[in-house]
Amino acid sequence: MEMLEGILNRTSSPLLEEPAPSPEQIENMLQAAMRAPDHGRLKPYRFILIEGQEREALGELFLSRLLEINPDADEKTCLKTRNMPLRAPMLLVLVACPRPHPKVPASEQVHTTACAGQNILHGAYAQGLGGVWRTGWVAEDKQIQKQLGLTDEEQMLGYIYLGTPKNPARKTPEVDSADYISFWKSDH
Ligand SMILES: Cc1cc2nc3c(=O)[nH]c(=O)nc-3n(C[C@H](O)[C@H](O)[C@H](O)COP(=O)(O)O)c2cc1C
Repeated sequence: MEMLEGILNRTSSPLLEEPAPSPEQIENMLQAAMRAPDHGRLKPYRFILIEGQEREALGELFLSRLLEINPDADEKTCLKTRNMPLRAPMLLVLVACPRPHPKVPASEQVHTTACAGQNILHGAYAQGLGGVWRTGWVAEDKQIQKQLGLTDEEQMLGYIYLGTPKNPARKTPEVDSADYISFWKSDH
């Protein structure tokens, strides 16, 4: 697939099923991630892969945190929360790991990690896979982050759900670029 064609046509796939990405497809996505623009080439990120039964364990973790935060959570919410990680055969946790650097602030390193996330989504789409980036309280919760092995210095940017799209890719919405660009004139 031509690169521009892929970038222009990629959409997220919220409904994902087996098969999960193969080891080769995962490697391609990780290599794509690590081509993100990266001031100082610090590689300020890491990825945690969760698949198979570990998704069930993650669902139990989500549920136990939900019940700690809200012991009165209703059954529907509990079930939905526990099943969240089962919405795809594989999840990649996107973690920014800012490195101390005299010229590259932590914020730039977080931007690099977000670009890596975008490249993972493009890498998935280019290989006929589907992906969707999700966050929400299960990404923000410090206890869940700790259980996933994040340190206090690291930042959770979200879960990228990966798998085979259940439905054909949605059509991308038409956008008028004129609404998002202006031309600077030096005599302002
Ligand atoms: C940092 C980040 C967090 C997101 N969190 C969620 C989320 O929790 N739930 C959700 O439905 N979409 C979330 N999205 C948006 C989807 O991943 C997706 O980009 C959006 O639905 C637009 O679809 P498209 O990628 O096909 O244009 C998030 C996107 C980003 C970049």
